[in-house]
Amino acid sequence: MKKILVVGSSNTDLIIQVPEIPRPGETVLGSRFQTFPGGKGANQAVAAARAGGEVIFIAAVGDDPYGSEAVKGYRRDRINCEDIKVCRDTPSGIALISVSEKGENAISVAPGANYKLSPEDMEEAEAAFDEADLMLIQLEITLDTVHRAVEICEELRTRVILNPAPATDLPDGILNRTDIITPNEAEAERLTGIRIRNEKGAWKAAEWLHRKGVRTVIITLGARGAYLSDPATGPGRMIPGFAVNAVDTTAAGDVFNGQLAVALSEGKSLEHAIGLAHAAAALSVQKAGAQSSIPMREETDYFYQANLANQHTK
Ligand code: RIB
Repeated sequence: MKKILVVGSSNTDLIIQVPEIPRPGETVLGSRFQTFPGGKGANQAVAAARAGGEVIFIAAVGDDPYGSEAVKGYRRDRINCEDIKVCRDTPSGIALISVSEKGENAISVAPGANYKLSPEDMEEAEAAFDEADLMLIQLEITLDTVHRAVEICEELRTRVILNPAPATDLPDGILNRTDIITPNEAEAERLTGIRIRNEKGAWKAAEWLHRKGVRTVIITLGARGAYLSDPATGPGRMIPGFAVNAVDTTAAGDVFNGQLAVALSEGKSLEHAIGLAHAAAALSVQKAGAQSSIPMREETDYFYQANLANQHTK
């Protein structure tokens, strides 16, 4: 089986259900409080493992119960954790999340140990990079570390999927070593400076990213689906998503990326891989939490087949 290398963050999510997301200066009284494993890197690693991938996860956690519980969970999902570093005197990453009645969220992250994952750690994980068929990486670790990871992939000719979340500006040295980029609307706007109000805006943003050297651009547009631009496979086009009632959209993007990576490593076409990624994300938003909401591959395949005719075309 092809191996998927995920490099990224591991957090513990502290979640409060609120009637609506508080505005600056406002206090809102919420209801349920829950603790779930999260972190964009970890969520994507778990999503790839549950999608049937053989996953190696490179990350850093603190020497505390949050970190050790998180790693136990990754092992339960059969993820190779040999390159997860445990940092002394540093807390594990924590995310404070408010989830509204509409399923929307607002997230603040204290990176803790995630920012101790260094470029040297990438070099030390040589065997993991050697074995990988594809690397999936995000931006909750330092950009220096992301930069070294994509350089190693370039040297090894390993495909890179970059999920540029959370939104930030990126140096050309990362973009031009990225094969597939998967921003959401806000992240694509931040990277390119182009407003994405419609398909034309998505096309312009994709062209900007192609000029920076990215071959395939997939801009996720929430319930509307995703805009795919890959000049080698035809003109830019919308791949519709599936309409479902969302209770919690936390990690929907992570689930999309984990499933996408596995489907591409299986040799599926971009359209088919995006369709499966939409299906996995649609299943995840119907459950609370990040890793707690990630479906197994059988559920995703079943949902995809059963709902193909109902793909949301708005
Ligand atoms: O993408 C969702 C994730 O973002 C959460 O699990 C939280 O940990 C933050 O990293």
